[in-house]
Amino acid sequence: MGRTGFGDLEHGAIPTFYAAPPAPRTAPVGTPERPIPLIIDSDPGLDDALAIGLAVARPEIELLAVTTVGGNADVRHCTDNALRLLHAFGRSDIPVAEGAQGPLTGEVVRATAIHGEGGLGRTELPPSPATACPEGAVALMARLLEESPAPVAIAPIGPLTNIALFIRLHPDLLARISHLSIMGGSIGEGNTTTSAEFNVYADPEAADIVFRSGIPITMMGLDVTHQATLDAAAATRLRDLGTASGVIAAELVDFAIERVWQWYGGTTTAIHDAVAVAHLAIDDLVTVASYNVRVDTSAGPARGRTVCEGLGRRMTRYGLQPNAEVGIRIDPGRFEGLLVDAFGRLP
Ligand code: RIB
Ligand code: CA
Repeated sequence: MGRTGFGDLEHGAIPTFYAAPPAPRTAPVGTPERPIPLIIDSDPGLDDALAIGLAVARPEIELLAVTTVGGNADVRHCTDNALRLLHAFGRSDIPVAEGAQGPLTGEVVRATAIHGEGGLGRTELPPSPATACPEGAVALMARLLEESPAPVAIAPIGPLTNIALFIRLHPDLLARISHLSIMGGSIGEGNTTTSAEFNVYADPEAADIVFRSGIPITMMGLDVTHQATLDAAAATRLRDLGTASGVIAAELVDFAIERVWQWYGGTTTAIHDAVAVAHLAIDDLVTVASYNVRVDTSAGPARGRTVCEGLGRRMTRYGLQPNAEVGIRIDPGRFEGLLVDAFGRLP
């Protein structure tokens, strides 16, 4: 049977997944001549570490700061990890400020089973000469947005607690945010529960505030980040770069693959967070589609689900407006090459 009004389907089966068509990106992208000013809000974190290294290495990005939030590990570990990573990447001058330990409400959720108790597996990095800014994450964000001559992009790659607090504390500064390139959520199933991806599950109320805020958003959910994987051969490519940063990245990837193998029998690891950062440096790396995204903040089995509506006629029927571009496709080989190239540029 041919078309059923929902596209070409075999046997006339009614689809259960209405994929929105690819759409042109509206997120800004930096160039070496005009690097995009960026704050990364992070819970380092194995994949966070590669995302931070990518941001430091790419000439299209001017990394203004790394703010930290509890997520993969306790926020104290995340802050220390951010300081040590930036030091290892030769940029201990980039300010780090600590944010929320846990969610706005509800239980603290951690991912130490994957990332290790300290958040960076077995990797021990030398201490940084720098210390975290005493003003804290939200105040540092506010100061940098006020001081920047141009609006600043933010890449939240951990739970969205700090971003939600910023929205509530500085509503007057939201126009100074050029874009939120978020790692989080999923059109399809989650990774922490059947319904929810970790960053959203860790603080659904914060994610709800963010997706309702009106700030331009790109959501890099699991649908696209699960295409952005590295394997043991990629770790070898990183190690063979001959840079200390390449060795660090290789160690982190190897540890992540080891945990994925133990947990799922898998042999690759998704470098989720680097997709949200890479999107701001490379114009055509990620294909996006336009969705209305709402967050389930109930206490039921769907808690933390990002409900992604991509079917135009249903948006119209229920009075929904698109509020996010959602990542749907990435070229895995190109993504791997981008990371290897980046860590070859670091010390
Ligand atoms: O679900 C993936 C996200 O959870 C990534 O940000 C990873 O670092 C973990 O925090
Ligand atoms: Ca993260």
